[in-house]
Amino acid sequence: MIAMDIRIDIPDHQPQPLQPILRMVNISKNFGAVQALKNVDLELYHAEILGLVGDNAAGKSTLMKILAGVLRPDTGQIFIEDRPESFKSPRDARSMGIEMVYQDFALCKNMWIAGNVFMAREIVREIIGRTFSVLDKKQMADRSRKILEEQKVSIGSCKKRAGELSGGQQQSVAIARALGFNARIVIMDEPTASLGVKQASRLLEIAQSLPQKGISAIYISHRMQDIFSICHRVMVHKTGEKVGDFRIKEVSVDEIVRLMILGKQGNGVETNSIR
Ligand SMILES: Nc1ncnc2c1ncn2[C@@H]1O[C@H](COP(=O)(O)OP(=O)(O)O)[C@@H](O)[C@H]1O
Ligand SMILES: [Mg+2]
Repeated sequence: MIAMDIRIDIPDHQPQPLQPILRMVNISKNFGAVQALKNVDLELYHAEILGLVGDNAAGKSTLMKILAGVLRPDTGQIFIEDRPESFKSPRDARSMGIEMVYQDFALCKNMWIAGNVFMAREIVREIIGRTFSVLDKKQMADRSRKILEEQKVSIGSCKKRAGELSGGQQQSVAIARALGFNARIVIMDEPTASLGVKQASRLLEIAQSLPQKGISAIYISHRMQDIFSICHRVMVHKTGEKVGDFRIKEVSVDEIVRLMILGKQGNGVETNSIR
């Protein structure tokens, strides 16, 4: 048998279609005197993983909350496949296939598992002959179990409260909520920050598998090794501004760190000078 050196290197082979599926243009956002975002542009392509990096308070989460419909921008526009969209709530963003996995998973600990999986898209059942509807808990439980099984997660009864689950199981529920409903764009905001080594590597595997399902992702992390192992492109933020946007194969960790610390003036500065 001939031994073959088979290499899987998704970032290198990622095709770059001409039209982005998402464009955020000229986005600004102030919180009182704090300018969290200044005229930021972002493009995301089909089946692409875009890394978003920057120091604390660089505006990364604010930009993603605007995309997820949690916050409204002061200026700027969002285009999905070239159509202008305006998200008034997370429900609007989810209806366009945009899902967010938050750093702390943002589960309602007192709510049952299926309620968390179906948050903001609850299944209701009309009562015949009545003028009101009720939650279809059976269907929500059955479908939640199926979604979790597809992720090879065993949680037991979906009637348990989310707070009764271990950290890893809570992570699975948060991911099931994001991936179980025809997501097109998944935002992961520092998803490994509070995870152990095993759970973090599982999360990276899930993120890396998204492009094969035709899903695009925006991945926020401080961990450069994660950014360089799963992302096709990386965008750098500093104090509310975009200071860099590179194909991952065309940039080094040093260059990214330099931009994160020094901003645009960091271009061309020797790494040694900031150590
Ligand atoms: N809800 C808010 N109210 C007031 N200031 C906020 C709010 N959210 C974020 N900020 C401020 O906006 C800036 C950007 O924050 P954030 O987007 O969370 O940055 P990052 O995710 O890059 O750490 C910070 O100065 C932060 O304190
Ligand atoms: Mg943040």
